Amino acid sequence: MSIITIEKSEVLVIGSGAAGIRAAIELYDNKVDVLVVGKCAKRDAHTLLATGGINAALGTMDPKDSWQLHAADTIKDGGGINDTDAVQILCKNASREVKQLAKWGCPFHKEKDGSISQRFFGAATYRRAAFAGDYTGKHILTTLIDQAVKRKIRFKPEVYIFSLLKNKGRINGALGLELRTGKIITFHAKAVVLCSGGHSRMYKRSSSRFFENNGDGIHLAYDVGAKFMDMELFQFHPTGMLWPKQADGVLVTEAVRGEGGILTNAKGERFMKKYDAPRMELSARDIVARAIYMEVKAGRGTKRGGVWLDISHKPKAYIKNRLPRMFKQFKEYCNIDISKQKMEVAPTAHYSMGGVLVNHNTGKTSVPGLYAIGEVTSGVHGGNRLGGNSLAECIVFGRLTPQNIIRDLKKMKRIPLNEKMIKEKEKWLRDKLSSSGQDPTKVKAEMQKIMWACAGVVRKGKDMEKALKEIAKFKQVKLKTGKNLKMNKKLIDALDVGNAFPTCEMIIKGALMRKESRAAHSRSDYPKEKASWKKNIIYTPTKKGVKLSTRGVKKVSQEIAKFLKGKREIKLLE
Ligand code: FUM
Repeated sequence: MSIITIEKSEVLVIGSGAAGIRAAIELYDNKVDVLVVGKCAKRDAHTLLATGGINAALGTMDPKDSWQLHAADTIKDGGGINDTDAVQILCKNASREVKQLAKWGCPFHKEKDGSISQRFFGAATYRRAAFAGDYTGKHILTTLIDQAVKRKIRFKPEVYIFSLLKNKGRINGALGLELRTGKIITFHAKAVVLCSGGHSRMYKRSSSRFFENNGDGIHLAYDVGAKFMDMELFQFHPTGMLWPKQADGVLVTEAVRGEGGILTNAKGERFMKKYDAPRMELSARDIVARAIYMEVKAGRGTKRGGVWLDISHKPKAYIKNRLPRMFKQFKEYCNIDISKQKMEVAPTAHYSMGGVLVNHNTGKTSVPGLYAIGEVTSGVHGGNRLGGNSLAECIVFGRLTPQNIIRDLKKMKRIPLNEKMIKEKEKWLRDKLSSSGQDPTKVKAEMQKIMWACAGVVRKGKDMEKALKEIAKFKQVKLKTGKNLKMNKKLIDALDVGNAFPTCEMIIKGALMRKESRAAHSRSDYPKEKASWKKNIIYTPTKKGVKLSTRGVKKVSQEIAKFLKGKREIKLLE
């Protein structure tokens, strides 16, 4: 028998970012034996990069704010195709969770009276984003990990999960490669929670680091037949760095605009007045990203293909207090002092609105025993996520989904491991080792280039058809990974390439099917939003490949609907 180590727990949490750690805390506090497995070191997860804030209608600065208005903003700029139940849950619970983080010691910026400060973010009617400088994600993750450490929650770092395990129709564990030792670990649990994050590294320019957001979670769920929703809907953050090369795509937080930052094109025009005059720089992300794309395409961009973002009218001390990361980032990467000079920015792949289909009332996916939380899921954000809603989603559903799991656990028995499946999967991994073939790092980069060029900020049917064929060709390519399971970066890149296939295919197939422009999905060949497309696309893996169908959107409740005023317009100006 090839099993080397078996790690048992009642619940296995895959992913050690905010969603995973918050879920583990809730499970632990309810006496569940929980084990968290993370791809990176203990305090290192993509949440660290979440920057400007976390949304909750606390009403500190603007007492008229309410969860209903937060929900209405989320749905309006989500293109009206959000899962309305999920939005309601998010917005109703966000304040409680932010206050809980503060109680646990998260150093949110405070007003003189001790209440949690809030700032503007795009598409928010009121100042709703609580923040800790522009290191909000880092402080939230640190706070959560400190709580997990205090509780002695079990944690396995630096393990690459390469397969979920299923027996008798239920998910009952996972297989992971321990990166430092090359050991294969079998995780055996009654239930598994997928908190593996998004897939923004399908794209060449991304706000994620190179080694994360490679679609691992999507691949794991696809492999066991889970359904997906809205995979075609992907967010491009308007402002990513352009240079130097190693900073390409690095996030320039929306908080810069929230604090009064101004966007101008190469001619010095404040171009947002053409695209969304009432909201200007604080318009929704899709609108600002499209505006920058259109300005550059029309020849009004900088030489490097971006626009200018300027906060230098604010005092240096203010900038260093509210935007310390941005101050440091520009100084260190390109010796720019943002209190005196403009920043050069352009859209960057940032967030996956689509993902695993989940019933957000229960956290259940379509596969028994498998739950999911956070960016790996779909529905909460519709076609365009509001800045600050992602951290809120992680901690709200990070508490609520475990409560459902705890109820379900009472009826669950541990399903024995399927040893045949384990052997097959282990062989599958070992068969990836090869001393000949193409360089997986280069293949990965090639695929990211294709996705950026053909399924990016603005898409076109013809380009996407071509991209689909090109991506399919890579499936046949043999990859040179070397001979060792231990500390093998090439093997990980090869696994990432494999993970990317279902993700890229679903993004493109859905984007081809959605013959309209809606929220972040912009098609130059179908530039208008169509009422007939006010629906979601469901993706079902089958033996013959993925099958696409559609599903109607649930009606918005009356208490939210009354705030849903005004029409949103997509402007694809040529
Ligand atoms: O721009 C930002 O600070 C990003 C925040 C978010 O994506 O929620």
